[in-house]
Amino acid sequence: MCPLSDARAQKSIDAFSKIAPILNEEPRCLNCHGGVNPYVDGVGDGRTEHGGGKTVEHETDCNGCHNTMAPKRGGVEKSHWNIPPPIFFFLGKDAPTLCAMMHEEFRGDERKFIEHLRDDHGDDNFVGTAFMGNRGLSPEDYPEIPPQPPPNIDGPGLVKLGEDWLATTDGEFVGWDAFDCGCKILRYAIRVTASTEFTKGRLQHKSALQPVDIPITFKDDGTFSGEASANFLAAAKMAPCTGQSTANLKIRVSGHLTQTYTNHDLHFKMENASPTVTRLSGQCVPLGSFGNKSTQSEQTALPFESDQGRVTEKFNYEMPEIFPGFKSKMQLEIVKLPDSQK
Ligand code: HEC
Ligand code: HEC
Repeated sequence: MCPLSDARAQKSIDAFSKIAPILNEEPRCLNCHGGVNPYVDGVGDGRTEHGGGKTVEHETDCNGCHNTMAPKRGGVEKSHWNIPPPIFFFLGKDAPTLCAMMHEEFRGDERKFIEHLRDDHGDDNFVGTAFMGNRGLSPEDYPEIPPQPPPNIDGPGLVKLGEDWLATTDGEFVGWDAFDCGCKILRYAIRVTASTEFTKGRLQHKSALQPVDIPITFKDDGTFSGEASANFLAAAKMAPCTGQSTANLKIRVSGHLTQTYTNHDLHFKMENASPTVTRLSGQCVPLGSFGNKSTQSEQTALPFESDQGRVTEKFNYEMPEIFPGFKSKMQLEIVKLPDSQK
């Protein structure tokens, strides 16, 4: 799960919305990240035609033409022109997708993301070359191609955008393996299902709780809570009578979730937030029918914990056998609610 409050998630989304267009629109970045395919003639697959014509993958020395790049960190070693494998393409990817991509790549190593924006982490300096605007081409060989650096941003400006984004989540990408945490507003619920069965003498009783989703909301400190109404439906049989009962109560969950790369930890409790109202009705052939309503206000809290806190994780609880033949089970499951359910 993503333990960000809506407000913090929105801050992260807003900060990344300034980075995304540089990745997926700015030609000096995009053309290497999927925009140009130098291995085909013409355009063909919707990408931009390579100005240098068709090259042969791996066999063509790109530096034969792209020989004027920003040097590597330290200023001595030469950078080599290269394009990334498709997993690092930015072409056609929207902001949430790019955001999740950066999280997946740099989670637990967030400073490396900033270093990538600075100068490709000291490796071949593609970003530095992008800001030179010359596509790595020398003005002597290509006087007809004028430098066209990104018009609205410079190198330090890009690093600042990266720092600002990281600062919205205190310098760490959160969400552990929820890579879209901080990329979208995400919603979760604790789904509760329960069933009770007992036989006592001639009485047979069965009840089931249809799955109830308790939607939870997070606060800025990683604590969360949520409440929902639950209805237990029961059917009982004791010759010559049959009966139906409904039990209605409010369930509340509250807890705390930590989800960083190295620390994942979930603690929560589930409790009844209202008295349980039981309504009973029945028919006894041939005696007639009966009805009754009762209220029970005992307070119970069940604690749960895990070192994960993942969607689909399940927690089982078996109630103590209060008398022989009594079986009652409850299952809690972490579910992700659809994005539209905001
Ligand atoms: C000459 C081609 C080239 C240019 C121009 C270029 N890149 Fe890259 N970029 C690469 C290659 C190759 C990699 C993957 C290898 C590596 O990590 O250095 C990469 C990796 C990255 C990564 C890390 C991605 C990941 O998921 O690991 C980021 C972020 C990035 N580039 C951003 C940019 C930005 C922003 C620009 C423009 C200012 C840019 N790049 C310009 C070739 C380029
Ligand atoms: C024969 C010379 C030549 C060779 C060899 C060459 N290129 Fe190019 N490349 C060009 C020229 C010229 C342009 C600029 C075209 C333009 O923007 O009008 C260019 C542009 C690009 C761009 C777009 C850069 C940008 O900022 O818009 C990419 C990406 C690229 N080349 C990748 C490669 C790769 C990868 C190789 C090696 C496999 C390679 N090129 C080899 C001449 C060459």
